[in-house]
Amino acid sequence: MKAVVKLGGALFKRDPDVDALRTTGKILSGFVGEGNQLVAVAGGGQNARVYIDAARKLGADESTCDLLGISVTRASAELLRLALGSVAVPKIPTMLSELTHYVSSGKVVVLGGLQPGQSTNAVAALAAEITHSDFLVNATDVEGVYTADPKKNPKAKMLRSVSVDKLLSWAMAGDVYAGKYELLDPVALKIMQRARIPTRFVSLDDPSNITSALRGRDIGTLVSYS
Ligand code: UTP
Repeated sequence: MKAVVKLGGALFKRDPDVDALRTTGKILSGFVGEGNQLVAVAGGGQNARVYIDAARKLGADESTCDLLGISVTRASAELLRLALGSVAVPKIPTMLSELTHYVSSGKVVVLGGLQPGQSTNAVAALAAEITHSDFLVNATDVEGVYTADPKKNPKAKMLRSVSVDKLLSWAMAGDVYAGKYELLDPVALKIMQRARIPTRFVSLDDPSNITSALRGRDIGTLVSYS
C-alpha cells in the first residue's frame, strides 16, 4: 500500500512530547516494515503560530510569515525523522519534484512545508497525488471533522463522512493568512478533489488510530467525492 500521513501541530508542541514522537515513530516504522510505502508530513503547530505572530508584529508581509512557518514545519519534520530512525530518508525534501526520487528508496520520506499560500495539508495532498497514494490519513488534535469547532462549541457534532464540496465551502468562507489556514486550506482541498484522494481524519491522541485508518477501520471522518 502507498500512503501519506499528515501529522498535525498537536504532535509538535512548544515543549515537544518526546514520548509521543517516539511512539508515533514506532507505529509508522511498523507500517513500513510490512512492505508499505509512506510519506509523512509534519505540521508546524504552536511554534509556527508563535513565530508568525512575532514576525507579523515586526511588520512582515504574509508571504514572509508563510516562509517563516515553512521553516518551523521543517524543524518539526526533523524531529519526526529522528523519531523514525533508520527507516527514514535522512533529508527533508524542499521541493515536490524531489519526492518521487526519495520515495523510490523504500524509506519513509518526511516533509514539512513547500511554498507560501498553503498549509502542510496541501503538501500532504500534493504528496499523495504525485506518489499515486492509495490513502491519506490526516491526524489532528480532534477526533475528526465537526459541524463547528469542537473546542469552541460544545454542540459541535462529529461527522462520520463529509463531502469535499462541503469542506471547500467552509474553507472558502475562512481567512487565508499565514498560521491561520482553517481545517483544510483551499489548495489542499482542490488537489484532493482533482486527484480524488481517499482521505480520513483521525485523532492523534492515540497514534495507533493512524494505522487503524490505513487498515480500513471506520474511525474519524471519511472524505467523500461526488
Ligand atoms: P501548518 O501546516 O502547521 O499550518 O503550517 P496550519 O494549518 O496553520 O497549522 P496546524 O495544522 O493547525 O498545526 C504552518 C504555517 O506554515 C506556512 C503557513 O503559514 C502555515 O500556516 N506554510 C506551511 C506555508 O506557507 N506553506 C506550506 O507548504 C506549509
